Parts: sequence; C-alpha cells; structure tokens
Amino acid sequence: MYHRLWIFLNGCLALISIVYIWLFSPHDNSLVVLAQLLAQLAMLLFIVNINMYFIFLVIRKTSIRKVKIRLAKFSRYFMKWHIPIAVLGTSTIIGHAAINLYAIAPLLGWGHVKLWSGVLAMVTLAVVLFAGWLRHKKASGFRRRFHLTAAMIFLVIFLVHMFIPV
Ligand code: HEM
Ligand code: HEM
Repeated sequence: MYHRLWIFLNGCLALISIVYIWLFSPHDNSLVVLAQLLAQLAMLLFIVNINMYFIFLVIRKTSIRKVKIRLAKFSRYFMKWHIPIAVLGTSTIIGHAAINLYAIAPLLGWGHVKLWSGVLAMVTLAVVLFAGWLRHKKASGFRRRFHLTAAMIFLVIFLVHMFIPV
C-alpha cells in the first residue's frame, strides 16, 4: 500500500528538518533562534497543504471504494483548513524573513545563496497563493495545474533554501 510510503516520507521530512535545524544549525542569538522556530513551523504547515495533492491523487486512483469514500469525506472536511493554514504559514514565514533580513543578512552579505534562495522561495510562495486564489474563485484545468505546479516548485525551492548551510 502506497499510503505507508507516503506517511513514511512525511515523517522522514519532518524528522530531517527537525534534526537539521535544531542539531546542525545552532545559534546563540535568541532572535535568530526565533526565526528558525518560525521557519520550522511554517514549513510543516506548508507540507500539510502540499499533502492535499497526494490525498486527491489517492481518491482518483484507488479502486477500493471504502478508501475512496473515506478520503473524500476527510478531504472535504480538511480543505476547510487549507486557506487558514496557508495564511498562518505565510504570516509565520514573513516573521522569519523579516528577522533574517534584519539580523543575519548584514552578517552574511547580500550575495549569500541562503538569502537569495529565501527571497526566491518567498516569491514562489506569492505565486502559489495567487494561483490558489485563482483556483478558489473558479476552477479550470489550467488553474488546477498552475496552483499544483507552483506548489511543487515552491516545495523544491524551500527545501533547497533550508539545506543551504550558512
Ligand atoms: C526573504 C525571504 C527569506 C530569507 C531572507 C531567509 C533567510 C534565511 C536564513 C538567513 C536562514 C538561516 C538562519 C539560521 O541559520 O538560523 C534561513 C533558514 C531557514 N529558512 Fe529561510 N529565508 C527566507 C524565506 C524562507 C521561506 C519562504 C521558507 C519556506 C518554508 C524558509 C524556510 C527556512 C527554513 C526551514 C530554515 C531553517 C534551516 C536552517 O536553520 O538553516 N525561508 N532562512
Ligand atoms: C501555502 C500555500 C499553499 C499550498 C502549498 C497549496 C497546495 C495545494 C495543493 C498541493 C493542492 C492539491 C492540488 C491538486 O491535486 O490538484 C491544493 C488544492 C487547492 N488549493 Fe491550495 N495551496 C496553498 C494555498 C492556497 C490558497 C491561499 C488557496 C485559496 C485562496 C488555495 C486553494 C486551493 C483550492 C481551491 C484547491 C482545490 C481543492 C479541491 O480540488 O477541492 N490554496 N493546494
């Protein structure tokens, strides 16, 4: 069953991020630690939203009726949280970005990839939100692909940003 692999991958991602942020990137400055905490929270929220893709995928592909009905019910309930999760994640990551631009950017220098990848992730997030809003207003094949593609590109960029060492 694929759902085990899917839960396993989610668990791995959460665990790797926790280990990386809290064991491999320690800081003394409590403001910077707060920025890390905000980033950790936000990335987990974003991953929850990205998981909607896999839930919809299983609903479309499964031939087990019980699974289809259960997941359809679950997703209908859970989608009520999709926009609040996006808004909360975005507010949180704005705090992260503001602190890092203020406290770390002058130390790293403006050419550092950690900063640029962060800015790029922020821009991609704006595209995801815009595409989500379009899709929310009126769904179409293009709008669905646009929101989905933007979300997956955002995932890749923020993971790259996260793992770039300072
Ligand atoms: C203008 C935008 C951004 C800037 C300037 C920025 C800057 C930074 C910096 C300097 C760090 C290293 C902090 C440290 O070592 O304590 C960092 C870490 C991190 N950022 Fe961003 N970031 C931005 C946007 C984002 C976005 C949109 C995400 C999406 C989830 C994100 C996720 C993370 C994560 C998970 C970490 C933790 C990894 C680590 O501790 O090195 N950031 N960011
Ligand atoms: C953090 C930001 C967000 C991420 C990562 C995200 C990610 C996703 C993903 C991966 C899907 C499943 C796509 C599919 O399988 O076709 C989805 C569906 C959707 N998203 Fe988002 N999204 C975000 C924000 C938003 C926002 C702000 C809105 C609306 C204002 C929105 C509206 C929707 C709608 C309407 C669907 C379709 C639900 C359905 O088919 O029943 N999303 N989102």
